[in-house]
Amino acid sequence: MGGGECRSNDYGAAAYWDARYSSPSPSSTATTGGGGGAFFDWYQAYPALRPLLRARLPASSRVLMLGCGNSLLSEDMVKDGYEEVVNVDISSVVIEQMREKHVDIPQLTYFQMDVRDMSLFGDGTFDCVLDKGTLDAMMCGDDAPLGASKMLAEVARILRPGGIYMLVHPLNLNNTITYGCPKERVQLLYQAGSHKKIELYIMPTPGYQLKWSKGVSLAQPIMEEVSLTVDGQLPPDYVLKDPESHFIYICKKPDAANEANSVVANEGETITSK
Ligand SMILES: C[S@@+](CC[C@H](N)C(=O)[O-])C[C@H]1O[C@@H](n2cnc3c(N)ncnc32)[C@H](O)[C@@H]1O
Repeated sequence: MGGGECRSNDYGAAAYWDARYSSPSPSSTATTGGGGGAFFDWYQAYPALRPLLRARLPASSRVLMLGCGNSLLSEDMVKDGYEEVVNVDISSVVIEQMREKHVDIPQLTYFQMDVRDMSLFGDGTFDCVLDKGTLDAMMCGDDAPLGASKMLAEVARILRPGGIYMLVHPLNLNNTITYGCPKERVQLLYQAGSHKKIELYIMPTPGYQLKWSKGVSLAQPIMEEVSLTVDGQLPPDYVLKDPESHFIYICKKPDAANEANSVVANEGETITSK
């Protein structure tokens, strides 16, 4: 979802997505992106994201998929043992299609909802919120900064203390419209989400990985954890191999109670060791 695409497509509007999911799409590509009845994952699919998710989330976690579209991610997570994935999207068309497709999978539920108002969900009710392309889509809307702040405030509200928000989006260094560069994105995440700790992973596009591995599929996706500078920039000596790379931000909601307990525990250890 680059700057030019953002300008020419109204990714922030429900009507745009309803039309897109209604239109027949014989083959899905990164730009046609899964029209009526087709299934399509933007950016990265479950096998690539799995190591990051499994390391942080037990199968019993309650997961919320923001702007699920007709991605296979939720279904693949359930096939891999996850017990509850709640899906929301602003498009009633895609929600109806996905409900019908997954009618026999009780672990998957679908709600038509605007992520700027998720009042149907109580405070602290999810262990994890996943976002692949939805914040970016909203960044193309008319009231982008306000919409993004509302969405991130809702994410912070519905996450339990210590819960995680995972955001996958493409890097487009020239893209000022979607606020795609890490500095702006990290500032937005810190301000609106009140997150304490943000980890960044960089993953080349699936096409780049395939070329790099000369067509032989890799056992593990190429993925690097990158330490951002204090002002949210990539380290000055960092070399980005694939200029189309995807950035994966993992934000942890502060857990005041547990952090206070661990301080008390640490103090206790200090006292007894004296
Ligand atoms: C780029 S697509 C990503 C779809 C899916 N997450 C994936 O990875 O394939 C963005 C999705 O966000 C949804 N969307 C856009 N604005 C939204 C909003 N305000 N609330 C809920 N969903 C929204 C769109 O309908 C669309 O399905």
